Amino acid sequence: MTKAPVTGDVTESAGGPGAEQRPAPAPSTTTSPSSPSPASVVSGTDDVIRTRGLTKRFRGGQLAVDGLDLSVPRGSVFGFLGPNGSGKTTTIRMLMGLISPTSGVATVLGEPMPQSVAGVLPRVGALIEGPALYGFLSGRDNLIRFDAADPTADPRTRRHRVETALERVGLSAAAGKKARAYSLGMKQRLGLASALLQPRELLVLDEPTNGLDPQGMREIRALVREVAGEGTTVFLSSHLLDEIEQVCSHAAVMSRGRLVVQGTVAELAARAQGRLVVRTPDVAQAVEVLAAHQVGSLLPGDGRVDGELGALGSSAGTSGGTSGGTSGGTSGGTSGGTSAEEALPKLCAALVEAGVRVHGFGLERGTLEDAFVALTGEGFDVAG
Ligand SMILES: Nc1ncnc2c1ncn2[C@@H]1O[C@H](COP(=O)(O)OP(=O)(O)OP(=O)(O)O)[C@@H](O)[C@H]1O
Ligand SMILES: [Mg+2]
Repeated sequence: MTKAPVTGDVTESAGGPGAEQRPAPAPSTTTSPSSPSPASVVSGTDDVIRTRGLTKRFRGGQLAVDGLDLSVPRGSVFGFLGPNGSGKTTTIRMLMGLISPTSGVATVLGEPMPQSVAGVLPRVGALIEGPALYGFLSGRDNLIRFDAADPTADPRTRRHRVETALERVGLSAAAGKKARAYSLGMKQRLGLASALLQPRELLVLDEPTNGLDPQGMREIRALVREVAGEGTTVFLSSHLLDEIEQVCSHAAVMSRGRLVVQGTVAELAARAQGRLVVRTPDVAQAVEVLAAHQVGSLLPGDGRVDGELGALGSSAGTSGGTSGGTSGGTSGGTSGGTSAEEALPKLCAALVEAGVRVHGFGLERGTLEDAFVALTGEGFDVAG
């Protein structure tokens, strides 16, 4: 049995005997096989992954991915974010040539998928929804098998590659244990190790921290940074917003099969409005003062009050962009939306004047979750 040098589901459908050497037959669902291939439609940039109108409707009628236009720049750590069922794995399966799109086109490393699956997959390390492992083999022997299935892997350096990969994912001590006796997190690490056997241009990781404990998550994040530092573009899916914020340079947000937004993580987080946080022992009094100054969604807590600047801070991102353009310091007008910079000192002064003991006062940066909720009007929940 020949297997593609990737793990998980990729091995199942890409790894027919000899599949690495032969171009995959063009699937019937894609557009004409004439020589100006779909790549010409979507190439022309240095995007490592690029899709246009990528759509997948499953046989049952479920529209899992709906007109996706994704651009993953070379060298990025790209977070593919969305709640359960939003279409992340389905997209990744199309990108890896495991399933054909219903319509639309995708290129990976400049090549059209799924047409170029045989040429592209050896250049990609992939971990897709739970690696396919041989339970009766040890972790180490599983890796040896994966490596042996890679026609480009030199058998003389196999041992070294396998030991290095085991070490990178923290599995050296457990490498002799049978894979069926591995915990979920250990299996996940082993799958990751198989994706890391060779340096790749692109690493595609579907929920890489699934099943890991907090320490394991930290280790994987460090590993992703390390791999990215070596020049590999990393595309990772997650439903964990803080994970994406911590490790990714770019992100795309999915909701119900549609792309809500994509860009740098900094840009996306900046879309979310920051929350005002006041730390004080005089919570009730602070709420009163803040409410009187049009601070919305007030949330009294233990020794703190959170609130939204709302209209007060909303012009920070719009008129704030042209700061310095107005003549003189027209500080008089509070109507029509002052910038957060103007609103904050006034609020603070009002609190102090009212006798509220202010122990802390500031704007907490908006999170990606805030941005998601603001963009979709929905919570970060499973779609129906
Ligand atoms: N083989 C299939 N047949 C029919 N529907 C499917 C199939 N695979 C996925 N779906 C549906 O497509 C939608 C998207 O699923 P997908 O697995 O891509 O979501 P996801 O974003 O990866 O979710 P999760 O975060 O839970 O992994 C879901 O509604 C799912 O039920
Ligand atoms: Mg998934």
